[in-house]
Amino acid sequence: MRGRASLWRRLAVGAAALLAAAALVAALCWNRIFESALNSQIKLSPNTRAYNDWVAPSVPLLFDVYLFNWTNSKSFPEERPNLEQLGPYRFREQRRHVNVTFHPGNGSVSYRTQRSWHFDEQSNGTMEDTVTILNIIVASAIYRARHWDFLTQKGLSMMLAMLGHGLTTTRTVRELLFEGFEDRLLDIAKTLPASTTGGAPPVDRFGLFYGRNNSMDTEGRVEVTTGALSGTIPGQILSWDYHKSLPWYEGECAKMQGSGGEFMPHNLTEEAPLTIFMPDLCRTVHMEPERSGEMDGLPYIKYAMTDISFDNSTRNPQNSCFCNGECIWGGVMNVSACRYGSPSFLSLPHFLHGDPELREAVQGMRPDPDLHSFYFAVEPRLGVPLDVAGRFQFNVYIEPNPYIALYEKVPRMLFPIFWVEQSVKVSESVFAELRMVRAILDWGGTVCACAAIFFASFVTIVTCCNKKSQYTKPPIQDIVCEKPKDEAEIKLYSM
Ligand SMILES: *[C@@H]1O[C@H](CO)[C@@H](O)[C@H](O)[C@H]1NC(C)=O
Ligand SMILES: *[C@@H]1O[C@H](CO)[C@@H](O)[C@H](O)[C@H]1NC(C)=O
Ligand SMILES: *[C@@H]1O[C@H](CO)[C@@H](O)[C@H](O)[C@H]1NC(C)=O
Ligand SMILES: *[C@@H]1O[C@H](CO)[C@@H](O)[C@H](O)[C@H]1NC(C)=O
Ligand SMILES: *[C@@H]1O[C@H](CO)[C@@H](O)[C@H](O)[C@H]1NC(C)=O
Ligand SMILES: *[C@@H]1O[C@H](CO)[C@@H](O)[C@H](O)[C@H]1NC(C)=O
Ligand SMILES: *[C@@H]1O[C@H](CO)[C@@H](O)[C@H](O)[C@H]1NC(C)=O
Repeated sequence: MRGRASLWRRLAVGAAALLAAAALVAALCWNRIFESALNSQIKLSPNTRAYNDWVAPSVPLLFDVYLFNWTNSKSFPEERPNLEQLGPYRFREQRRHVNVTFHPGNGSVSYRTQRSWHFDEQSNGTMEDTVTILNIIVASAIYRARHWDFLTQKGLSMMLAMLGHGLTTTRTVRELLFEGFEDRLLDIAKTLPASTTGGAPPVDRFGLFYGRNNSMDTEGRVEVTTGALSGTIPGQILSWDYHKSLPWYEGECAKMQGSGGEFMPHNLTEEAPLTIFMPDLCRTVHMEPERSGEMDGLPYIKYAMTDISFDNSTRNPQNSCFCNGECIWGGVMNVSACRYGSPSFLSLPHFLHGDPELREAVQGMRPDPDLHSFYFAVEPRLGVPLDVAGRFQFNVYIEPNPYIALYEKVPRMLFPIFWVEQSVKVSESVFAELRMVRAILDWGGTVCACAAIFFASFVTIVTCCNKKSQYTKPPIQDIVCEKPKDEAEIKLYSM
């Protein structure tokens, strides 16, 4: 009887000692354990949660388009263009990742993004609203012709007059955005050699987003890391449309780096910018930390595009390689090179953080950081975006041309056409989940340390009260005391 009881006691003490040791190890290594559990969930491989959410996000995105109605085009260029903002024309956007292919050998995955849009009745306006904008087809043709010889340019000038093309075009929102409209110039462009159109694929219609609905080709093929190789984080850009660097720029500007926009690194700090590669802007953008705070119980750091990150001028020499020597205005991005040589410039809406000269060239620009900034608010430890607003404005560059009657007297300026806003804020249930993950991360070590103390006390009490036992006391307490500087225990003792 007595021998059996002491056997049980010895077993219990042995088990408690093991548990104490295990809990202690867990307490000491909690951060590492958490990190690997988290990584196994967020790395991109089939069947992880992150993967399923990523292939077909269930959260619908909103795509808001604001158009600028040019109301005094008759008196241009004597009067500054008066632009009235219309909208938002709101679309619900469904996004899917297709042609997802894993390349296990180099720890990467490649995919295309298919987006579809559905008009939302919450829009401030209808698809039948008529809007007057600068005629972009004409502006493009004249811009492309700027290096042609005098006679050919005169020919273009006469052709524009013959076709009855003016400075503006008036269309419904439906035609302007997704449906597109026909134009004789597009038919003529189809007959020209590709060199004159910058290699742009021939199209039958023109629309600001024509051909993008349900298309798999607009965004291009993206290859990002999966996070499977040790030391890598998921979602970092490796190549875009088979390019490992941007072919249009040189040096620093050609580099593709940072997140593909969907997965952020962990342990973000306020000291370093957040680097994101944005196919829409054809470039890597460094977003500057703006402020930090707490949102629904979670800490965040807000990174925003500033005049520095979105600059195209000599003020930031790092960016001068983007404008191939001709840096005119600050706070805008010349994307001509990656849009088949069309006169396209991107900026923040209402030229926020842009050169004042840009705003003064037109009436109706009212930049407001609350409405027009481009930012990512990210939970820094886990790298989860909590609140994102992606906004930019599309502008067309025009300049006087002595040989083209229509453009003889126009000023050199950027003409705002529209701006878009894509915003996502994670839902309350995701916030709750993230708060729980943070709690596990922050308190898990402490809980394990408590368990270690508990089991160690058990072992101590049982062995001390039973002097007859031959069981030799494991030096659990010594281990606990040997590492008094551990973070988890410091927390424990300060409780
Ligand atoms: C983030 O920091 C924690 C400690 O604060 C560390 O344990 C963890 O490994 C770090 N994670 C990464 C990805 O650097
Ligand atoms: C745009 O401006 C024109 C005047 O130039 C006006 O007739 C038209 O109604 C405006 N469009 C909208 C949707 O307000
Ligand atoms: C809706 O559009 C009109 C102009 O067309 C504008 O005056 C009004 O402020 C807009 N409303 C909202 C809620 O944006
Ligand atoms: C992508 O997948 C679709 C079918 O889902 C297929 O028709 C198409 O050829 C694929 N494209 C590429 C470039 O692999
Ligand atoms: C990864 O491997 C695939 C083929 O397995 C290759 O096509 C691709 O270019 C590689 N990517 C990088 C970044 O090396
Ligand atoms: C995009 O395509 C879908 C499906 O073909 C269609 O239902 C939707 O109306 C289209 N959206 C727009 C804005 O045309
Ligand atoms: C925009 O960039 C293109 C190509 O990089 C360049 O040829 C053009 O001169 C630039 N335009 C302006 C107005 O800076």
